[in-house]
Amino acid sequence: MQRAVKPLLFLVCLLPLASLVWAAVNYQLGPDPGEKLMLEIGAWAARLLIATLLVSPLRTWSGWVSLLRLRRMLGLFCFFYASVHLSLFAHFYLGWVAERLLEEIVERPYISAGFTAWLIMLPLALTSNRAMQRRLRRNWQRLHRGVYAAAVLVSLHILWQVRSDFGEALVYALIFALLLAWRLMRYRKKQSSASNAKLLDA
Ligand code: HEM
Repeated sequence: MQRAVKPLLFLVCLLPLASLVWAAVNYQLGPDPGEKLMLEIGAWAARLLIATLLVSPLRTWSGWVSLLRLRRMLGLFCFFYASVHLSLFAHFYLGWVAERLLEEIVERPYISAGFTAWLIMLPLALTSNRAMQRRLRRNWQRLHRGVYAAAVLVSLHILWQVRSDFGEALVYALIFALLLAWRLMRYRKKQSSASNAKLLDA
C-alpha cells in the first residue's frame, strides 16, 4: 500500500497540468487561453507550495513519519509548475525577449517578488536529492529553510498584483502566515529545550 502512494501522488500532481492542456486543446480556456493557462498554472504552483509546507505539521500531528518522503516530490512539482508559469509568461507576454523580463522585474514589484521566489526555489530543486543532502549535511537544512523566504515572496507576489478582489489573495497569505508561524513556534520550542538541556548538563 505504502509503495503505491508515491506513484499515485505523482499522477495526482500531473492531473492539473493534464486537464489544463486538455482544456486548451479543446478551446475551453476562454477568450485569452494563454493568460488563463498561465494564471491557473501559477495558482497550482502556490497550492503545491502550501502542500509542501503542510507536510511537517501533518507529520507532527499524525506521527506518520513516512509523510516526509512525499515532501520532496511536492516541492519538485511546485518548482515545475512555477517554471511552467514563468515560461508561459515569457512566451505569451514577453515573446522570449530577455530585456523585457528585466524591465518587468525592475518596474513591477510583484514580478520581482515572484521571480526572486523562483530563484530561491531553483537551488532547492537542484539539491533536493539524497546525494546532495549527504554532501551538504547541516548546510542542506540551512539552504532548504529558504522555502520560507520563497513562501513570503509568493504571498507578496499574489497580494501585490490584486487590483480589486483581495479575497483569494488574502486566503493564500493567511495560509502561508499560519504555516510560517507554526514553523517559528517549533523552532523556538527546540531552541528553548536545547538551552534547558545545556543548563542541566552544566
Ligand atoms: C518566476 C517568476 C514569476 C513571474 C514572472 C510571474 C508572473 C505572474 C503574472 C504576470 C501573473 C498575472 C498577474 C495579472 O493578473 O496581472 C501571475 C499570477 C500569479 N502567480 Fe506568478 N509569476 C512568477 C512566479 C510565481 C511563483 C513562484 C508562484 C507560486 C509558487 C506564482 C503564483 C502565482 C499566482 C497564484 C498568481 C495568481 C493566479 C490567479 O490570479 O489565479 N508565481 N504571476
